Amino acid sequence: MQRLASYVFFIVCCGLALSQPKTDQKCLREKVITFPQLTTSSWAKLHPNESMDMSAVTVCLRFYSDQTTGIPSLFSLATPSLPQDFTLSWSADLKQYQMFIHNTPVQFKGLTFNLNQWNSVCATWDAISGLAQVFVNEVASIRKLAGPKEAFKGAPVITLGQYQTQYDGGFQQSNVFTGFISDVHVHKQVLTTRQIKTYIGAKTKYKLGDFINWHNLKFTIAGSAQVEEKQQVTFYTKEEQI
Ligand SMILES: *[C@@H]1O[C@H](CO)[C@@H](O)[C@H](O)[C@H]1NC(C)=O
Repeated sequence: MQRLASYVFFIVCCGLALSQPKTDQKCLREKVITFPQLTTSSWAKLHPNESMDMSAVTVCLRFYSDQTTGIPSLFSLATPSLPQDFTLSWSADLKQYQMFIHNTPVQFKGLTFNLNQWNSVCATWDAISGLAQVFVNEVASIRKLAGPKEAFKGAPVITLGQYQTQYDGGFQQSNVFTGFISDVHVHKQVLTTRQIKTYIGAKTKYKLGDFINWHNLKFTIAGSAQVEEKQQVTFYTKEEQI
């Protein structure tokens, strides 16, 4: 009986251990985070070393998905008073990218979204001009006025694959991302178009983020989200296949 009890205890503990959020600090070069399920209980959080005092930002990432409905959230940065302080989503229904700057939405049309291929995205904004711009694969958007011209301040909660409707949570089913996300870099400045081109072209020597660096990332994953090897067979951009 005692043996059975300890066996049951072991099973319960292991089951719990597997579903508990796990925090790690690693180089995720050549790795992806896989979001294999359309559920609000799977997510990844990225932990910067410092709190924010940034008057400019560039967020670069690559994603791979087959979603044709909803508004999957790629990147969501919340502060206590501004749950959509900086977000980047793909609105599948309207076929446009959507950013929020300090809780104010702005849309970008006519940019590419390739199903079941890597899409490389960089989104920039700075508080001096107040202008946001999105680059996807080989196309740059126009520059649009977005949000109040104020710096990003405070301790952020950054999630991948989920959209925060409140500080540190409030995930919604319609904003769940499913697929792969990789190479997430956050810079405390607006990168030059040349630097963005180098990143998008997946050249090896692109600039690594000085706020969030995929090659030395402190992160927590939960639910069915997991770190996996990048599958090189489908990685190459059109340009590189020629
Ligand atoms: C955060 O701190 C760690 C440990 O000091 C360091 O290795 C890492 O590069 C830092 N990350 C960034 C983005 O500066």
